[in-house]
Amino acid sequence: MKPVTNGKILIAPSILAADFSNLGEEIKKTESAGADMIHLDIMDGHFVPNISFGPPVVKSIINKTSLSMDAHLMITDPIKYGKIFSEMGVKIITAHIEILADINLWKKFKKEIKTSAGIAINPPTQIQNYEEILENFDLILIMSVNPGFAGQKFIPDVLPKIEQFANLNHKLGYNRIIAVDGGINLETAPLVLSAGANMLVMGSAFYKARDYGEIVEKIRKLLLP
Ligand code: DX5
Ligand code: ZN
Repeated sequence: MKPVTNGKILIAPSILAADFSNLGEEIKKTESAGADMIHLDIMDGHFVPNISFGPPVVKSIINKTSLSMDAHLMITDPIKYGKIFSEMGVKIITAHIEILADINLWKKFKKEIKTSAGIAINPPTQIQNYEEILENFDLILIMSVNPGFAGQKFIPDVLPKIEQFANLNHKLGYNRIIAVDGGINLETAPLVLSAGANMLVMGSAFYKARDYGEIVEKIRKLLLP
């Protein structure tokens, strides 16, 4: 796969924290604010204790923006629904490692779809196969909260995991997306960026901001020396 980030930090607002009564407008504002991607938090009430939205909502918004979308599947059947989202044009489909009985199933899924595939990892989950994950998937979504809800507090214990993925990503020359999701704001973003993350998922800090463009600008400024 071609380098996806080109050295840039990707900002992916999670519409879970947007105003659902005004979703089309929220998406337009997200695009004009200069965000890079739209993060879709798909929850089924089984894998996580919350239900969010599914294919009909994604279908209604996907052509309303030129921004790419990544689907974070917090569901017990990522293969079935992952295919549906991929066929709709969602660019990256991410399943939780905790739900995949065998990671080979997700490798097979990746071969069957035209879009990219990622692996999400919950804060308590310890990883042994860092290299295998980096070798086979386009995005690693390191959760910095226990999934289910927007607006939770960042868990700093995940920083070594981010570092491990980021260092190996660099060392092995893969150029994968190392994304961090949960409690990312202007205070926590510098921590995960220093650990080597190259994509920030932001829910509350983005959609509760007065001015979406200003928050994007402030995040980009964090990278300047
Ligand atoms: C949590 C979701 C996150 C969350 C991010 O289950 O995966 O994407 O919505 O929201 P904040 O940034 O508010 O933690
Ligand atoms: Zn998410």
